[in-house]
Amino acid sequence: MTGRVESREKVTGAARYAYEYPVEGAVYAAAVQAAVGKGEIRWVDHESARAMPGVLEVLSCENAPRLADASNRELAVFQSRTVAFRGQFVAAVVAETLETAVEAARRLHVEYAEEEPDVRLRENHPGLYRPDEANGGFPSDTSQGDPDGAFSSSVVRMEATYSTPAEHNNAMEPHTTVAYWDKDGSLVLYDSNQGASAVQSTLAGLFGLDPERVRVISPHVGGGFGSKGTPRPNAVLAAMAARAAGRPVKFAVPRQQMFATTGYRTPTVQRVRLGADAEGRLDAIAHEVFVQTSTVREFVEQAATPARTLYRAENLRTSHRVVALDVPTPSWMRAPGETPGMYALESAMDELAVATGVDPIELRIRNDTAVEPESGLPFSSRNLVACLREGAERFGWDRRDPAPGVRRVGRKLLGTGVAATTYPAYQSPGKAIARAEADGTFTVRIAAADIGTGARTALGMIAAETLKADLDAVRVEIGDSAHPAASVAGGSSGTASWGTAVVLACEALRGRLNGEVPPEGVEASADSRDALKARDDYARHAFGAQFAEVEVDVDTGEVRVPRMLGVFAAGRIINPTTARSQFIGGMTMGIGMALMEESVMDQEFGDYLNRDLAQYHVPSCADVRNVEAAWIEEIDPHLNPMGSKGIGEIGIVGAAAAIANAVHHATGVRVRDLPITPARLL
Ligand code: MOS
Repeated sequence: MTGRVESREKVTGAARYAYEYPVEGAVYAAAVQAAVGKGEIRWVDHESARAMPGVLEVLSCENAPRLADASNRELAVFQSRTVAFRGQFVAAVVAETLETAVEAARRLHVEYAEEEPDVRLRENHPGLYRPDEANGGFPSDTSQGDPDGAFSSSVVRMEATYSTPAEHNNAMEPHTTVAYWDKDGSLVLYDSNQGASAVQSTLAGLFGLDPERVRVISPHVGGGFGSKGTPRPNAVLAAMAARAAGRPVKFAVPRQQMFATTGYRTPTVQRVRLGADAEGRLDAIAHEVFVQTSTVREFVEQAATPARTLYRAENLRTSHRVVALDVPTPSWMRAPGETPGMYALESAMDELAVATGVDPIELRIRNDTAVEPESGLPFSSRNLVACLREGAERFGWDRRDPAPGVRRVGRKLLGTGVAATTYPAYQSPGKAIARAEADGTFTVRIAAADIGTGARTALGMIAAETLKADLDAVRVEIGDSAHPAASVAGGSSGTASWGTAVVLACEALRGRLNGEVPPEGVEASADSRDALKARDDYARHAFGAQFAEVEVDVDTGEVRVPRMLGVFAAGRIINPTTARSQFIGGMTMGIGMALMEESVMDQEFGDYLNRDLAQYHVPSCADVRNVEAAWIEEIDPHLNPMGSKGIGEIGIVGAAAAIANAVHHATGVRVRDLPITPARLL
């Protein structure tokens, strides 16, 4: 058991989060959101707001300083009169107190020329287009063989359309920034983010500064789930407000404003066709994905990519279509792409299992593949089948009666379901410094981010192992752009990426020390760029199997999940304690996705209607019963010195499908639109 090295600081409140930094002379910003779904800003009444006692500055498109680079329109705060979606930041008030800023922002009068917004994603929307590529640089469309011909001549054909709603990342800590400008013109930000280096370089570009003149400090971050993986408008707004007011500025995005300004998971519509022989061997897979983006920036969630990797089928087609609506720009939310994509694909696999009468686990084992179908590459390691088998045994799958809708105890119908899970093993280059101190301890520095995952601890363990030192003797300093540049805590790539740089730096340091404690301290630095090259000969993914048991109340339609089990093959697990928490955290989010999370777009006015945790439901303790995570021994020899993959996201992937499949097994009702609310079951 290795708990978080910073756990005492966290539970005693000593760990400081961005907004809590005491900065002398700090004042407060509050933002004003667009009150129309589309249009132009005609006029902003700065004078009335300025006249309020305590108000220091008002910023809007009327007076905001021009940014050096306004090409990222999501971050180009107050640079245009165009309102692209309801809830967009259109103005900010800076005041001596938070209360004054909030009240002045509430009263600020903005006049608009209003137009009718178009906010509804549908698979026949005339504005749908084929993007140049999907997120992550993946081709939008792929095709091999003859998917249509193979499908029409298949003995068993399964065709269905699934949908997932918009969902919002709801981190505990809001998106906050404290910004101040030094006398020498450099910018300092205490900012809640998933990567200080990315915020540093982005803000430098926006404000036309040398990156060395921007310092981003974020040692503790209270969650992000992807929504802090790219810099958000709060950082820009705070920096701009601090410059305009000539004072340090604190700005926190209230949860109510977060739903329009800090990203969310796009809703999806997905058409899946599976053609198979009578024994369930796939001959054709077609996965067509329809998603939305905004008019501000193109974001194409790569939901069809798992179908390119998971199962063997000679004839395979995948595609993404996107429409730019008058909505906030979607962004990353835990396992973007895989999460909605695998819900559809793994629901369809369950439907195929029912149609062929093949056990759902056996069906997946039959369709396993030794090479990645799309690329033809061998996998660096692939243990999907081992996870399915191990999970089946632990879960008690062999006792399962496949008939749907037949197990009833009192008012409850009972069922179990399974789904595969997969997530790419991403890695990015980065740098690290390791230092041997004169007192025999070590310090490792890297601009990594610990967003609650235990990354700091994992890096300490990796360093200690490489240095052959005790964990207690290693200090890990992260969350500061002044440290060697590192990639973001995203794409489940953190520990693999940063760990590689840390191992290289620690090895270089050991080479210098010759086993001695240096009298004055010695340091070594490393860049992991070259170490990443050999990986390209392999398809690189983690795999797993998700199991769920559900009870469905026949009178109320309420679904409960008394038991979940996830078995993962995700490379070497560095720290079992925090890894387990990553896995079960992801699975818990899967419960939310399956049963409750749904951001409801106001079809008339735009913006999401449910804007707090009272109306946007995430699982509470009572919803999360026995959630177990296990993993099989897998040390991947091809990826990095640790043998690890990534674990931050795979826990959510497939979880909603396992629950939906269990609901079908319990009730005989196939719900193809998430979340599975009582109304959809009764
Ligand atoms: Mo994660 S959604 O890649 O931060």
